[in-house]
Formats: sequence, structure tokens, C-alpha cells
Amino acid sequence: MTMHTPVDDLLPLEARSELERLKKTISYHDNLYYQQDAPEISDEDYDILRQRNIAIEKKFPELVTDNSPEKRIGTNITSDFKKISHKQPMLSLANGFDYHDLSDFIKRNQRFLNDHDDDNIPLSVEPKIDGLSVSLYYENGHLIYGATRGDGRVGEDVTANVITIGDVPKFFKQSSPLAIEIRGEIYMEKDAFIALNEMQKQEYGKIFANARNAAAGSLRQLDSAITAKRPLRFFAYGIGYIDTQITNNLQQQYDLLKDWGFITNEHNCFFNNIDAVWSYYQQFIANIRDGLNYDIDGLVIKYADIHSQKRLGQVARAPRWAIALKFPAQICETQLQNITFQTGRTGIVTPVAELAPIDINGVIVKRATLHNDDEMKRLDIRLGDYVRIYRAGDVIPKIESVVIEKRSKDSEPFAFTKQCPSCNSILRRLENESAWRCLNSHDCRAQILNHLQYFISRDGLDISGLGKKQIEAFYDTGLIKNYVDIFHLHHHSNHILKMDGWGPQSVKNMIQAIEKARDVDFSVFLNALGIQHIGESAAMQLADIFETAEKFQQFITDFVTNKNDNKSQFLTQHDQIGDALVNALYNYFSDTIRYNNFIVLCNELRFTVQKKPIENGLLTSEHIVFTGTLNAISRAEAKKIAENLGAKVHNIISKNVTMLVYGDKAGSKLTKAQTLGIKLVSEEEWLQIIET
Ligand code: IVH
Repeated sequence: MTMHTPVDDLLPLEARSELERLKKTISYHDNLYYQQDAPEISDEDYDILRQRNIAIEKKFPELVTDNSPEKRIGTNITSDFKKISHKQPMLSLANGFDYHDLSDFIKRNQRFLNDHDDDNIPLSVEPKIDGLSVSLYYENGHLIYGATRGDGRVGEDVTANVITIGDVPKFFKQSSPLAIEIRGEIYMEKDAFIALNEMQKQEYGKIFANARNAAAGSLRQLDSAITAKRPLRFFAYGIGYIDTQITNNLQQQYDLLKDWGFITNEHNCFFNNIDAVWSYYQQFIANIRDGLNYDIDGLVIKYADIHSQKRLGQVARAPRWAIALKFPAQICETQLQNITFQTGRTGIVTPVAELAPIDINGVIVKRATLHNDDEMKRLDIRLGDYVRIYRAGDVIPKIESVVIEKRSKDSEPFAFTKQCPSCNSILRRLENESAWRCLNSHDCRAQILNHLQYFISRDGLDISGLGKKQIEAFYDTGLIKNYVDIFHLHHHSNHILKMDGWGPQSVKNMIQAIEKARDVDFSVFLNALGIQHIGESAAMQLADIFETAEKFQQFITDFVTNKNDNKSQFLTQHDQIGDALVNALYNYFSDTIRYNNFIVLCNELRFTVQKKPIENGLLTSEHIVFTGTLNAISRAEAKKIAENLGAKVHNIISKNVTMLVYGDKAGSKLTKAQTLGIKLVSEEEWLQIIET
């Protein structure tokens, strides 16, 4: 289990690499979930990953990239189904977890809409059905096709399968718009799911982990006769594309859906203020949730005024006008059986709580991080203690507190280890660090293995056919001592063939994968080295600065042979490169063994350098600042519109700014922009520009 720094403690560069890690992990699980109906983690765990990603992006908005998971919906599609482009994208929902998130959501939107009447906010509250979303397209009231969400823009044609579902109308009961996409959720009822699994067991068919997987597996059948036998159901919760405006009111929209023959959820409710929504949420958890015959994983809160929905629009993959309010994380009690220690790549030793296994929200938890010595002291955790653990806001379970009342009288404080659990060397606590470290970087098995394993992992050179276990075996038999040896493994094919688990084909595959890995993007390579403070983003930044591997090598050689301030300054003048990174770089390469290995390793590889993508749009070349009070729209809405048209929006006037949009009571920014000769645009002129 990997340990993750709390979001509040992350430094910008760590945040960058953490975002990169999360991007990859999320995309990996998206693929399992959407394409293979075979998730490896629970929905709660997945949400935790996304929450962490969102929290980091919120704290470091400047680190948000175009390929952030929050800007992607679902994943790329690869399957045997025909592809269908949605007429309107199928979005996903942002998550909230408590009153604070709910009130943030509403206050933010009220500000955006410039609306200050807090008791007249049209809101709907609906169960968030845990099934899979589909888009049903009708022309003249007749079902034309049904499609899965896919990547949000293009889905899979599952028409033959959706027509087998009784809840899906094949034609409308009443007259209807000419063209309309109905959005909703296909799901399986709990008792039907249990019965289906029972039957599958008897017929030696696939056993589904939960009702959602059963519904997904049943819908994505290439043989629709199988789907027809599965007890699938459908709730409608919205409209995608529509060729005529029918109503501006969500409640009326749901009434129309019912008139046309769709089923909407009986627990959908409409309210006018935050507190009413919150009290329904609490009542729902207390009285309704457990009695439902289908899985839900929260409530969806929406602006029930379609006109407001349109104004609010969307941020990346999710609409601004809706939020999924998830149900609270469960806190459970279990016993601490042991505390073990792990040495990571950079020598940091982390304490781990080994727990009596416990089921939290459907996931069996056996271990939890104790972070560091300070955290162990804060908890005063002792062997045999009962602890309260929970899962929220982070990937790994956390210990909230110790149940002191249950503590045995003869328990004793547990001391942090003095020695590296891997190589026994004495640990050191460096100045300004809360972590204890093993400094034996050249001989500590755990550190070396972690480095090698990271180097070949998906975050590193991504060498398939070579995994953690193999690296361990090669290290222990002396075939691999450092990165360079990986590229000489082909000299040892005969030796490897004699090792456990290897055959001619797997050896061949591994050698091929290693050969392929010689062509590598320079930034990927830098990241793969696992140097402290140099994650994927810092590596990208360095690759950007140096452009070629040769220039980087030259710089490093000069840097370590003659460390002078110029060299450090050269780096720190770049955004996001701070002293910590520069020192880490120096410390890493001033070690002669590492330096020499690096030079030899570079000669084994062929580097490529990636170019940045170029954007497009009406205001693409503009750098805009807004100042003063805007009357027609809020600042946030103006910013959104500008960005949608390709402009970059800044907060301060600099010579890079090309346009200043000013409202009432514009002050010093206006004067400064005038002196710099920046184009000045009044609010009225701005509204004209964006309308063209
Ligand atoms: S509204 C544009 N309402 O939740 C907003 N979604 O996590 C999109 N879902 O893809 C959906 N019940 O599959 C909405 N009452 C409901 C829902 C609901 C379940 C699903 C839907 C969506 C996912 C987002």
C-alpha cells in the first residue's frame, strides 16, 4: 500500500507529480470500469481518487492541465459495438460530501448568477442511481437509437439491447419534439440482482460483484437475446439535445417525461433553499435509503431552472449546475495487531498499522498508514489498541483516533523504529523534516528495489513483461544492480530461462519490451529516475527548459563539477522550479556512482522530446483582465465566456495583457492599462464582442 501526503501538506512540485499519478490511476480504473465491466476498486475508492485529484486542483489551480481527469468523461472506447456521437455531450457530476460542499456549490452558483435571493433558489434533489447512463434518441416520438456514455462525446450503439427493456418507451405516448435525446440510468434492482447471480451460479455463468456491474454486463451483450433475459430497468433524469425549447422548469420537464411514458424517480423533490435540501438529505439517509430496492450512491442536487443551467454551463467534464452529494464515510472500529515499517524509494521510513481485517463500505481493509513519527505520537497508538478508521478524501484508510477506553492497562507506548527495516542501518531525522530516513541509498535493498520498480513501472518507462516480482528476482540473483543492467538483460536470456516462471515466449516478450523502451520521451525518463522532488511535471518542465538530453547532461556535468549560484539561479528563474528541486538535483548527481550510471544509461537510450499542443478560438491570442463591477453578468461568467472563446484570463496587468475589460468603479488597473497602451474595452463593448 502506498502512502500519500495529505493535500494540505503538498508542495507545488509534489502536487504536480501527484496529479500526474492520479491522472494515470484514474484512467486505468476508468478503463476497467467502462470498457471491461471489471473494476478492481470500489466506487468509494474511485471517488476518493477523484476527490483527491479535485482537492489538489482546487488548491493548485495553476497545475490543472487540459488532460486532467476532470476534463475527461469516461474513457476511450474500444469494443465491438458501433460508435454513436451524442448530439450533446454526456457529462459527469462533481462530488460533494457534506453541508459545507453543498453550501459552497449553491453560494458559488448564486454569485455567478448575480442572484442574492437565498430563499428562492430553484433546486431539485434526486437519488443518484448507481447504474449506467444511456442516451435514448427519439425522432417524431419514435426511438431511433440508444447509446452508452462512452467517453462523453461518443458512445456505443446499444439499441438492440435497450429495446428489450420494458421501461424504455419505443415511442412516445403523447406528441413530442421532432428530435430529442432522453438521458437516464439503466439499473438492476437488488433482489433481481441476487436472483440473477443465483441463476448464474447454477449455470456456471459469470458472477457479478454488484448490481451495477450486473446491469453493465447485461447491457453490453453482443447478443441482445441475453440482455432480454436480464431484469434491466430505466429511470429518466434529463434531456440532452432537443430541437425545440419546451419548458424552462425541471419539474415540468419531469412531468413531460412521465407523460411521454418514461419513469422518473418517485423520490425526486423540489426545494427553494440550502437548508431544505440539507434536511431532505439527512432524512433520506435516516429513513429512505435503506428501504430502496436499488443501489444509490448519493443524491443529485440540480438547479431546477433550465435557463440558469444554461448560463452556469459546465466546467471541464461536469456541469456547474449540478452536484452529487455523496453519503458520509463510515467510521469503523477494529483492533491494531501490529505496527510495521516500510522503506520507500527515497529512504523515508513509514509506519503502517496492521489491522484486524474489517469491511468498510464494501472494501476489506487490513492496513492503514500512520504517516510518520509525529502522527504516531499524536495518536499515542499502542499494540492491541482498538482504533477508529475511516476512508474519505484520500486513497488509503486513515486512523481517526484510538479508543482509549478499550485500551489494556499494561499497554506501552510504541516507539518508532531506530533502524531501517530493510538494511538495518541507523535512521536519521534530517533538519526540517518530520520523516526518519535510511541514508544507505546505495546498499539498501528496499530503496534500490523501489527505484528499479518505479523505473520500469507505468509511471516510468512502462516496460511490460517486466514486473515488480521479476525485478526482485533479478536483483536477488545479481542479474540487475542498477538501471543500466536492465538494458543488458538480453545477454542473460539462457540464465533467465532457467529461472522460475520464465519460458521462451515470456523472455522474448520481455526483451522486446525492453528494446522498445529505449525510445523514450526525455521527460518520461527524467521522471523515471525517481529523484526526490522530480515527478512527471517537474521532469516535463526540465525537459522543456533544456530541450535535449545532451544539453541537460552538459548542465548537470557543469553543475556537479562546479556548483555555483548561476547554475541554481538559471533553474529557479523558471516558474515552479524552487530551491528544493535544485538541491535534490544537485544531491542526486553529485554522487559519483549515480552520475556515472546516468551518463552510461543515457547512452543506452534514444530520446524524443514532445511538443506542446496549440489551442484555437475567436479570442485565442487575447490575454484579458477584467476590472470594476460588471452589471449584466458576474465576473466569473465573463471569465468563463472569455475562456470558452480561447482567451487567457489574468488577474494582474502586465505587458503580456492585450485587453482590459472594465466595469463600473474601475480603479488602478484601468490607469495602469492606459499607461501601457493596452486595448480598453467597456462592458457594453465586451458584450458585443462575445455576441459576434
Ligand atoms: S444528472 C449533466 N441525475 O450519475 C448531469 N445523473 O456521476 C448528468 N446519475 O453520468 C447527470 N442518477 O449516470 C443525473 N438523478 C440523476 C442521476 C444521475 C444517476 C448518474 C449518471 C451520471 C452520473 C454522474
